Amino acid sequence: MKKLHIETYGCQMNVADSEVVASILSPYYTITDSLREADLILLNTCSVRDNAEQRIRKRLRELASLKKKNKNLLLGLLGCMAERIKEQLLEQEKALDFIAGPDAYRSLPQLIEGASLGNTSFNVLLSEKETYDDIDPVRYDSNGISAFIAIMRGCNNFCSYCVVPYTRGRERSREPKTIIEEAQNLFEKGFREVTLLGQNVNSYYWKDVLSNMDFADLVEKIAQISPLLRVRYATSHPKDISDKLLLIMAKYPNVCHYIHLPVQSGSNNMLKKMNRVYSREYYLERIRKIKEILPDCAISTDIIAGFCGETEQDHQDTLNLMKEVGYEYAFMFKYSVREGTKAAEKFEDDITEELKIKRLEEIIALQQQLSLESNKRDIGKTVTVLVEGISKRSDEYLFGRNSQNKVCVFPKKHYKIGDYVEVKIVKCTAGTLIGEAL
Ligand code: SAH
Ligand code: SF4
Ligand code: F3S
Repeated sequence: MKKLHIETYGCQMNVADSEVVASILSPYYTITDSLREADLILLNTCSVRDNAEQRIRKRLRELASLKKKNKNLLLGLLGCMAERIKEQLLEQEKALDFIAGPDAYRSLPQLIEGASLGNTSFNVLLSEKETYDDIDPVRYDSNGISAFIAIMRGCNNFCSYCVVPYTRGRERSREPKTIIEEAQNLFEKGFREVTLLGQNVNSYYWKDVLSNMDFADLVEKIAQISPLLRVRYATSHPKDISDKLLLIMAKYPNVCHYIHLPVQSGSNNMLKKMNRVYSREYYLERIRKIKEILPDCAISTDIIAGFCGETEQDHQDTLNLMKEVGYEYAFMFKYSVREGTKAAEKFEDDITEELKIKRLEEIIALQQQLSLESNKRDIGKTVTVLVEGISKRSDEYLFGRNSQNKVCVFPKKHYKIGDYVEVKIVKCTAGTLIGEAL
C-alpha cells in the first residue's frame, strides 16, 4: 500500500479532520511519520492569523525540494487556507498538486487520482450538511487514552475579526446517535477521555422524530456511557453557556470541571466592535454562575490584544477582567487583519505593531502570574489524574491531567498509561503541578 504523511496545523477541529481524512484514504494509503517514505503529503492548514498562513507557505517551500528528489510524490493542501484562498493557491504555490476545503474530503480519492495523472485539481465547495458522521476516524497519532469527537461543524457567529465562518461555512450539528456510538466504541477500545468539539458547542442542537437534543442533553448521554470515561468539550461561546449545562457538569463527576470560555476583550467598546454580542457584565455574571455551581471549576480564555481602535483604557479593562476572573490559562494573540471579514472592511487596523506587542506582553505576564497563583493554591490538595504518558523530562515520571485540565507530573511507581491515580500535589510551576501518588 502507498504511504501518506499528514501534518496538521491550527485548532483541534483540524486534528479531528485529519483523522477523518486518514479514514477516507485508508483503502489506498497507510499513515507514515516519515516524509522520506511518503507517496503523498497532506498539509491540513489554518488561516486564523496571518502568521499561521506564513508558516505554511514556508513549509511548502521546504516540501517543494522533496518533490525534486521524488518525481512521484504528490503534495496536497487541506483545511482553512485552501478554503480562504481557493484555486489561486495552486497558482501561487507551484509545488501543490491539489487542494481540498474542509467540506470536500470525501472527494479526496478523485482529487488524488486526477493529480496523479498530472492535472492540478481542487474542491473548495462548502456544504450545509456535511458532518462526516458515518466516517470512523483513524486515530493515527493517538495515545490510546484521549480522543476528539467533532459534534458539529462551521460557525454562524461572525465575530468581526474572524475568518472561520468563511472557511468553515454554516453551523451544523451531527446526529447524536453517531456521536454516542463513536464515544462508546472509543471507550470499549480502552479510551478514557473524549473531548467534544465544535466552534461553539453550546449551540449544538438536533431534532428529529426520535429525539430533541441540546448540548447539555448530549453531554449527559456521553457521561452516562461509563463513570470511567471523562468528558470534556471546547469551545464555549459565552452567549450560549447555559445553567442547564453547568448543572449536568455538577451532576456527573466524570464531566471535567474545566471550561474554555473565550472573552477576547474586557472592554464593552471592543466587544461591541468584535460582534461578540455580550457585555463585560454579562460575561462576569456567567463566570459567577460557573463558580457558584462548580466551585472548583478551572476557566481558560482567548484574548486578542490590539484590536481596531483599542485604547489604553480598553486594554486596562482586559487586564482587570483577567484578574477578576483569575483565569487558570489563556491563549493570547495579537490582532491580525483577515481579508473579507467585517473588521477588515469597516475598521482601521490602527494599533501599531509595537503597541500590539507591548499589550500582548503585559497580558502574557499577567496570565503567567495568575496561572502560578492558581497552581500554588493546589499545593497540598489531592487530585485525580488520568495518566496520558511518560513525562518528557524523565522516564521515572508519568504525566496526565486532573479534572481542571492542569498537567500533573508524578513518580511512576507501578502506575501505567490509562490509570486514574490519586496524586497529592507538593509543588508547582506556572504550567505544571508536581506531586506524589498516594
Ligand atoms: N470558536 C472559538 C475560537 C476560534 S479561533 C471561539 O469562538 O472562541 C481561536 C481564537 O483565535 C479566537 O478565540 C480568537 O481569540 C483568535 N482569533 C481569531 N481571529 C483572530 C484574528 N483575526 N487575529 C487574532 N486572533 C484571532
Ligand atoms: Fe470565530 Fe467567533 Fe466563530 Fe469563534 S465564534 S469561530 S471567534 S466567528
Ligand atoms: Fe484555524 Fe480553521 Fe481552526 S482557521 S483555528 S484551522 S477552524
